[in-house]
Amino acid sequence: QLIQSNSVIYTCGVIYCNAQPTEAETAVWNQVSAVLEEAHGILAELQSYNGAGQEIREAIQNPGDLALQEKAWNAVCPLVAKLKRFYEFSLRLENALRSLLEALTSPPYAPMQHLEREQALAKQFAEILHFTLSFDELKMTNPAIQNDFSYYRRTISRNRLNNQQLEAENEVNNEMANRMSLFYAEATPMLKTLSNATTKFVSENKTLPIEDTTDCLSTMACVCRVMLETPEYRCRFTNTDTMLFCMRVMVGVIILYDHVHPVGAFAKTSKIDMKGCIKVLKEQPSNSVEGLLNALRYTTRHLNDDSTSKQIRALLQ
Ligand SMILES: *[C@@H]1O[C@H](CO)[C@@H](O)[C@H](O)[C@H]1NC(C)=O
Ligand SMILES: *[C@@H]1O[C@H](CO)[C@@H](O)[C@H](O)[C@H]1NC(C)=O
Repeated sequence: QLIQSNSVIYTCGVIYCNAQPTEAETAVWNQVSAVLEEAHGILAELQSYNGAGQEIREAIQNPGDLALQEKAWNAVCPLVAKLKRFYEFSLRLENALRSLLEALTSPPYAPMQHLEREQALAKQFAEILHFTLSFDELKMTNPAIQNDFSYYRRTISRNRLNNQQLEAENEVNNEMANRMSLFYAEATPMLKTLSNATTKFVSENKTLPIEDTTDCLSTMACVCRVMLETPEYRCRFTNTDTMLFCMRVMVGVIILYDHVHPVGAFAKTSKIDMKGCIKVLKEQPSNSVEGLLNALRYTTRHLNDDSTSKQIRALLQ
């Protein structure tokens, strides 16, 4: 068994209590905290993102009607400014994650020791994952985002052909638009950003064994799984929000692990009990379960490897 039950209870506290940062954690904690403070607003903004589908449709159906073209353009511009804010936030989140990974993997401590010593940072890590999964869930169910953005890009390039410079280009120039469109083309853009960043972190830092990072992730997955599957702990969940928090964090760390570890999360040698994680996820009475299972199905790297057992495949079928 990877962790003793005492440590599990202890660390479960880490994941859903509000641990105060110790002095050693303060610098990183403050930096990450400034980013997390914005996360709530970003989610609210995305939640209320309605898109300009109607205006765009009317403009396309009446290409000769300049008033309708202008109406669509005026509707799309503020939305694209929003999309830019989300994208820029992903870059700040990436930096925050990087600082946390550095802190939570620095020698000489083992992952469990880190989680115990740096509870406030572990909690922030969990919050980042929770935000990420929530963001992607909203993005995935909102086709207006890509529709608005491609209309914006088509309009810009049509005007460029006519040698007209649009004022909006100052806000989102061509290079920014290219980067944004790569971002929004991803099914789960925030998670992809984080898994890219984690991969980069382990590949850039040659002195740090990959296991230090993956053990940190598998330990967190284990803590979440034990939390969800043990009735004595589960009754401490005060409401479904905490349960959902735990589910999202578990799926988030699994996906990161799968991207970073050379053989991934589904192999027999994996330090994550995938069967247990999937089972406990399926038992949860939550509308979000299917979305989270889809995240495991479609955004992991190694699920379709030959080394994945039939049983796990069947569970995710
Ligand atoms: C690599 O890891 C060490 C130890 O955790 C850390 O001090 C250093 O800043 C890291 N370097 C990079 C490039 O992340
Ligand atoms: C992740 O990395 C891949 C490969 O380098 C790149 O093609 C993709 O655009 C990146 N995605 C994000 C969201 O950063």
